[in-house]
Amino acid sequence: MNELTPEYLTGFFRMNAGLSPQILTSFREMIHAYYRANPRPMPWRETGDPYRILVSEIMLQQTQVERVRVKYAEFLTAFPTVCELAAAPLLEVLQIWQGLGYNRRAMYLKRCSEEIVNHCAGHFPRTVDELQSLPGIGPYTARAVAAFAFGVAEPLIETNIRSIFLHFFFHGSENVCDNEIMPLVASTLDRENPREWYYALMDYGVMLKQKHSNPGRRSRHHTQQSRFEGSNRQLRSMMLREVMRQPHITLKELIDVLPAERETVQRNLEAMQREGFLAKRGRGYCVTGEN
Ligand code: ADE
Repeated sequence: MNELTPEYLTGFFRMNAGLSPQILTSFREMIHAYYRANPRPMPWRETGDPYRILVSEIMLQQTQVERVRVKYAEFLTAFPTVCELAAAPLLEVLQIWQGLGYNRRAMYLKRCSEEIVNHCAGHFPRTVDELQSLPGIGPYTARAVAAFAFGVAEPLIETNIRSIFLHFFFHGSENVCDNEIMPLVASTLDRENPREWYYALMDYGVMLKQKHSNPGRRSRHHTQQSRFEGSNRQLRSMMLREVMRQPHITLKELIDVLPAERETVQRNLEAMQREGFLAKRGRGYCVTGEN
C-alpha cells in the first residue's frame, strides 16, 4: 500500500490535478478501516436529533471534547428540546454554559432556537443554506449539522479534517489555503455515508496530530488560541459572572470587585449591551430578559 504515502499522494495530485479511482478507493478504505478499529464514542454521534447535533457542534467549537461531554449532558437535561431552549431565560442558558467559555456561542444557540421555533414553525432547517442563515451558524457548522442529522453530503473542513489533507496531499507545502483543500475533501467524500465518513476523518485527524507534529500548522488558517489569563475575554467572563451573581450590580460595584480600570469595564459593559448579553436597569446591569 505504498501508494498511500504522503510523498506519493502529493506527487500524484500535483501531477494530475486530481486523484485516480483506485487512489480514492484505497484512501477511503484506509480512513474507514481506522475508524472501524478505533472509533471515539461520543454521545452526539449516537443521535440523529438535529437539535442535539447542533448543540454539540456549537459546544465543540474551540473547546475540548472531554469538557463538552459533561456540559452537553447537563445542557440537554436542562433544555431537552429546541422549544425548551427557545422559551428559557438567557440567564439560565448562560448559567449552564459557565465553564465552556466563549459565551457568545450560548447566546447565538439560544437565538437559533428562537428563530427555529418562531420562523420555521419548529421544523428544523435541513439544507445547508437554511442552516447557514441561522444566527451565528457558519459554513462548517451548517454543513456538519446537515451531514450528521440529515445525511447531506457537502464538503466541510474543520481542524482535524484539515490536518489529514495537509498530511497526505500537501506534503512539504506551507501556508496552504482551505480553498486548495476543499476540492480534495469533495472528491474523497463518501457520498453514501457522509456522517460516518466525517466521524472517521475527524478521528483519523486526531491520531495524525498525535503521531506527527501537528500538520495543521502548515495551514494559512492556523491560529493558536489566544491566552485566556489576563485577556479581555477573561475580564468579560468575570463581568458576566458578577452580573449573574448580583443582578442590578452597578458600574462602581463592578469596578470594586474586578481587576480592571473603570474605562475598560465601561467599554465592555457597552459592548455587552450592544451584543445583547446585558441590559441596563436604572443604574445597575442585568442579563437581558431579567428585571
Ligand atoms: N463528532 C461530531 N462532530 C465532531 C466534532 N466537531 N469534533 C469531534 N468529533 C465530532
